[in-house]
Amino acid sequence: MKEQIRCAVLGLGRLGYWHAENLATRVKGATLVYVADPFEKQAEKVARELNIGKSTKNPNEVFEDPTIDAVIIATPTSTHAEMIQLAAKHKKHIFVEKPLTHDLQEAVQVIQTIKENNIFCQVGFMRRFDSAYMEAHNRIQAGDIGTPLYFKGVSRDPGSPPAEFIKNSGGIFLDMSIHDYDISRYLLGSEVTSISAHGNILFHSFMEPYHDVDQAIAYLTFDSGAAADIEASRNAFYGYDIRGEVIGSEGSIQIGSLRHHDIQILTKSGSTHDIVPAFPERFKNAYLNEIEHYIDCLRNNEKPSVDEMDGKIALEIALSAKKSFETGRKVLLSNPTLSLD
Ligand SMILES: NC(=O)c1ccc[n+]([C@@H]2O[C@H](COP(=O)([O-])OP(=O)(O)OC[C@H]3O[C@@H](n4cnc5c(N)ncnc54)[C@H](O)[C@@H]3O)[C@@H](O)[C@H]2O)c1
Repeated sequence: MKEQIRCAVLGLGRLGYWHAENLATRVKGATLVYVADPFEKQAEKVARELNIGKSTKNPNEVFEDPTIDAVIIATPTSTHAEMIQLAAKHKKHIFVEKPLTHDLQEAVQVIQTIKENNIFCQVGFMRRFDSAYMEAHNRIQAGDIGTPLYFKGVSRDPGSPPAEFIKNSGGIFLDMSIHDYDISRYLLGSEVTSISAHGNILFHSFMEPYHDVDQAIAYLTFDSGAAADIEASRNAFYGYDIRGEVIGSEGSIQIGSLRHHDIQILTKSGSTHDIVPAFPERFKNAYLNEIEHYIDCLRNNEKPSVDEMDGKIALEIALSAKKSFETGRKVLLSNPTLSLD
């Protein structure tokens, strides 16, 4: 077992900062050596705050440092393919935020480079490391609800990210629903065979020039015979609403809740509870768990449980959803698991 994994975080925005903080303060067996962001002041600030030795505005300095074992890529999705290629060619193990890339051909190319350079890659599908989704998976595996027949996914954001983010996000199917596409195949233990998707702008008219929508739904079929519907919304002005349900032949598992704290307030005017405000609060532990898993795997020279192929499959489902939405037609997927074409 390797005692310490020397790592670097690339991109210090919303996600990159939490990954850096977790690595610097909580993750056993990780030494955060470097942080990188083109906004030099941001890189310096994070390095100061977290007591990291080195900061740079140029990720190439990280790739060229032979003492770095692993990188965490939390840069905008449009840069992922280039970052993965560079990291792999410099023999750095990779944790990359979702989606793996924006483009299927790019995904195939990065997978080839990862294989050629014999490194490990984990994709940031943190729901697999959330205690509720993990318990649901364990219960399904244990047969508690019989054969899984149907997945219902609800992912609602309390508003939209800014136009600048939407412009480069790849759209709601890639940016948001991809989490549910991944978790549905994980929970149902089956691969998607078809998808029909719809969407509309209900509130955020600024999205129109970017051909994005703020309310979307997809209906999916799976090779086991199971099916799913997956809703994504940027219009949950009441809070961050992430829920799921798996219905089986002998019962159902409901996943997630709107409650931030597990309390109910009863007064003369009625009964209330608080609501999860945003994704950091909902998935704080999952972000830590996924990075701990990554570091543990690297220390033990083991492949992470959610890898580049999972990233490619979820991307293929998301791109098919986008195509279905754009054409108004159902899109068939053929054996997405094994194909590298
Ligand atoms: N897993 C999740 O729940 C989740 C949630 C939000 C975002 N994400 C993903 O995380 C990634 C980043 O999203 P974000 O919301 O943190 O974005 P962000 O815009 O907040 O941060 C991105 C950061 O990367 C920096 N950057 C840009 N180009 C760079 C480069 N070439 N090298 C190094 N740094 C660079 C930017 O200056 C910025 O600080 C995206 O792929 C997004 O899809 C995942």
